[in-house]
Amino acid sequence: MKKKVYITRQIPESGVDLLKGKYRVEIFPENRPMPGDLLLQKVEDCDALVCLISDSIDEKIIASAKKLKIVANFAVGYNNIDIAAAKKYGIMATNTPGVLTNATAEIAFAMLIVLTRKIMEADRFTRTGRFSGWDPLLLLGDELRGKTLGIIGMGRIGQEMAMKCKAFGMNLVYHNRRPVDQKTEKRLSASYASLNKLLHLSDAISIHTPLNHETYHLVNEQTFEEMKTGTYLINTSRGEVMDEKALVHALKAGKIKGAGLDVYEFEPEISRELMGMSNVVLLPHIGSATKETRSRMSEMVAKNVIAALEGKVPDNLIP
Ligand code: GLV
Repeated sequence: MKKKVYITRQIPESGVDLLKGKYRVEIFPENRPMPGDLLLQKVEDCDALVCLISDSIDEKIIASAKKLKIVANFAVGYNNIDIAAAKKYGIMATNTPGVLTNATAEIAFAMLIVLTRKIMEADRFTRTGRFSGWDPLLLLGDELRGKTLGIIGMGRIGQEMAMKCKAFGMNLVYHNRRPVDQKTEKRLSASYASLNKLLHLSDAISIHTPLNHETYHLVNEQTFEEMKTGTYLINTSRGEVMDEKALVHALKAGKIKGAGLDVYEFEPEISRELMGMSNVVLLPHIGSATKETRSRMSEMVAKNVIAALEGKVPDNLIP
């Protein structure tokens, strides 16, 4: 009998095809997050589970699996998986690092330039018939060149964001659990700063940390207080890294001049107040949403599953 792989949502075919050649593959057929109680049933008899960040893989799910070898997350972030429980039950967990680095940094950079050059506002202005000719004082934005970007979380995506902003002439400071090596700092022309110093120095801040107990609400009322008045803020990591209520206050008070969000604290719920603000860009968690990247992610999860089911250690095993 062939081994069974369950996939909680349709993903690009390239990876699914790799799995179909070897295993029985079942996919949740609906275009919505899979209900938890159904997942609990489905996981019981499968050998591998391919899941999304919207699936909460908690101890209950893990404990109900009778022959599960691997939980392969279709994402780089894995805060949706109880890694300790997986370890306890001898189940491997993997993610998809690297392949989405550029796509996510592109989205972070896109939001930065959209905000600073008032692109959304300008588009609305034009569409609503208000363009009556060139105006020397119309829609003046802030130039990126010469401004300071603070990067919180200098992993792969933070570094790629640094490269893009360096190319636009920005000065770079970063905060990370540990400073990156000197060669990387030199390549990126970025200098390490304490979180407080970064908040004081930055004209724009971009968040690239994973979500864990150390980074939950890392950006909060207090940290907004420390920022310069008029800072731009970009978040493409996880919504829970920022206290969304505190962000709304900071936007209302003008402390934050504009925010670019791809993720939300209570995703997919978004604070009503944010919805009504014109200096906020709200994206539906599309950081990695390019055809190239999503196909590579699909192949990567498939290769992780195949390695685990062949008794090997997958390349992207979460330690
Ligand atoms: C998306 O948010 C991911 O972690 O890949």
